[in-house]
Amino acid sequence: MTTLGNVPSAKTLVDMSKGTISREIFVNKEIYAQEQERIFARAWLLVGHESQIPKPGDYFVGRMGEESVIMARDRQGKTHVFLNSCRHRGMKVCRYDEGNTPVFTCPYHGWSFGLDGKLVGVPYFKEAYHSELKKEEWGLVEVAKMAVYRGWVWATWDGDAPDFDDYLGDMKFYFDNMIDGGTGDPDNQTLWVGVQKWRFPGNWKFAAENFIGDFYHNVSHRSVNIVGISPSGRQGRHLQDTIQIPRTWVNWSDPSRGHGAVVSYTEQEVPYIESYAMAPPEVEEYYRQAHANRRRRMGDATRSAPSVGTVFPNASLSAGRSIAVWHPAGPHQTEAWRFYFVTKDAPQAVVDTMRHYALRYAGPGGMTEQDDMENWNYATAASNGTIAKRRPYNYALGLGHEYDKPKAPWLGKSGRWSDGISEQNQRAMYQRWADFMDTASWDELKPR
Ligand code: FES
Ligand SMILES: [Fe+2]
Repeated sequence: MTTLGNVPSAKTLVDMSKGTISREIFVNKEIYAQEQERIFARAWLLVGHESQIPKPGDYFVGRMGEESVIMARDRQGKTHVFLNSCRHRGMKVCRYDEGNTPVFTCPYHGWSFGLDGKLVGVPYFKEAYHSELKKEEWGLVEVAKMAVYRGWVWATWDGDAPDFDDYLGDMKFYFDNMIDGGTGDPDNQTLWVGVQKWRFPGNWKFAAENFIGDFYHNVSHRSVNIVGISPSGRQGRHLQDTIQIPRTWVNWSDPSRGHGAVVSYTEQEVPYIESYAMAPPEVEEYYRQAHANRRRRMGDATRSAPSVGTVFPNASLSAGRSIAVWHPAGPHQTEAWRFYFVTKDAPQAVVDTMRHYALRYAGPGGMTEQDDMENWNYATAASNGTIAKRRPYNYALGLGHEYDKPKAPWLGKSGRWSDGISEQNQRAMYQRWADFMDTASWDELKPR
């Protein structure tokens, strides 16, 4: 075990055999700095979606950890992810959120870079650099590995990281299930207008752990549930609240990778249940058809209704609606980016219905996300208190009640499962967090 600076071994801060976590990990500046080195510079991170850059020259400015990156499509149609920082003095070479360009020209001294990242233009190259600058050595910094999975663009700065497929492991089933928009076809999605970006005063891990499967915090959303914000017009905030047949919430996590998700599982086949009474009739019709397609494509696995999940470290899924990325912006601040998607073949009435529902639900103005942010805000502030810090947090909910054989083969081969309310997924996430923090190379981190 090696440590950076004054940071103690993460294993002394996170004890998953007892289910305790030191409050330090949410507020300590040195721990935060080590997270940037050990987690955000090494893990696979979500950058954006290919539908944001359909044509050559298209770009979208994303973020990896604290740093700005450019996702661009070059003239050959290849996708790249670069650090958005000029090699001369670091200025952002792209200051727009998205657009189309033949070249990125730095606004400071005018170096320009091609869509493939190569340095192609240097003012006064002959007169001042005497043609001696080796342009081929000063291109934009490109990520070590990039992968496109189901249209989503992922990247890592570490060339020793395993391939994305291996990184994702059995999270694939849950990921696919959450982005298929109820159609059973995980490639049938596209983003609608832009990305919501905002900051909240809380540590990024509180958001990531909430979405990995905190079903215990339903009480937080009592007022939203009473109002009833789903298109069903019934009380509750979820579309699945209309499912009346018996079902079990199943938590799945892979402690060797740090991912986790929650799905509801039914013993019997779920018939289509009308859930869009407040929307135009064609919306109900679209989802009725989608349900039939899902059954055809997924067979028995249609019995799982997806809910939420987190791909370690900071990409959180809300089934059928959006993926949030919790970018660290200091130990006490998170920059949230929420990418909303909708099925490609959806008629306009469906797009509008889902967009309105998403905005009622999530983002800085969404009723549910506002409840969550209040909690993350105060949990972060409280972690800083001199007296408060003397006591760890309790992550022992359901400890020892996990099982290692899934109820159905499609729920995954590896990892562990539990039913109902549990903190097993949070424990898996923090187990992996500690592994990352305590190890210097991917050799020791390869999923077991
Ligand atoms: S900082 Fe970009 S050209 Fe000087
Ligand atoms: Fe919540």
